[in-house]
Amino acid sequence: MKNIVVLVSGGGTNLQALIDAEQRGEIKNGKITCVISSKPDAYALERAKKYGINTLVCNRREYPDRKAYSSAILSLIQQENADLVVYAGFMIILDELVVRAMENKMINVHPALIPSFCGEGYYGLRVHEQALKKGVKLTGATVHFVNEECDGGPIILQKAVEVLDDDTPETLQKRVMEQAEWKILPRAVSLFCEDRLTVTDGKVKIVQEEQ
Ligand code: GAR
Repeated sequence: MKNIVVLVSGGGTNLQALIDAEQRGEIKNGKITCVISSKPDAYALERAKKYGINTLVCNRREYPDRKAYSSAILSLIQQENADLVVYAGFMIILDELVVRAMENKMINVHPALIPSFCGEGYYGLRVHEQALKKGVKLTGATVHFVNEECDGGPIILQKAVEVLDDDTPETLQKRVMEQAEWKILPRAVSLFCEDRLTVTDGKVKIVQEEQ
């Protein structure tokens, strides 16, 4: 059974989707063992506590720079014996020292079809604001491994979502979450825990289930 550590910063609906999937038995060979928040008041912490999941706070404001913060996060990840780290609405870019220590063992969910609307500055509602500004007819979500490049790691799963004429950033965010993020994140986590993801030349292949 693999230990899953989830990093959060906010409301935690993606964390909830993971918890619900685990409760339904859909995370095969994995268990959420700890939730770490970059903010002490993140609602995601309440969600975790409700299910008896261990919670930790690593407050970004208490560290002088990205490197110091990243070292602190890495220590916690190692202390928790994480086999997999999931960024579920975690809004901080960590230093490459974490990426190197956890290569192809950290996954992120991004609310757009990478390589569109991604990279530094594209997070949360901003992503949907930019998608609406551009007038794209399709957007979606991507789950990918985390590497040194912001939102640039190997893509595991993607799902497209239609943009409607009267969408606001908020309505679009909600549809992308419901139709894409909350489905592909638990699926990708399970595939990882089942050892069904391989990465070659920066590309992910999904190993078919044994019959
Ligand atoms: C989600 O839409 C997630 O994809 C996005 O922030 C939201 C967090 O919601 N993450 C990013 O933009 C990261 N670049 P949640 O806290 O309810 O899961």
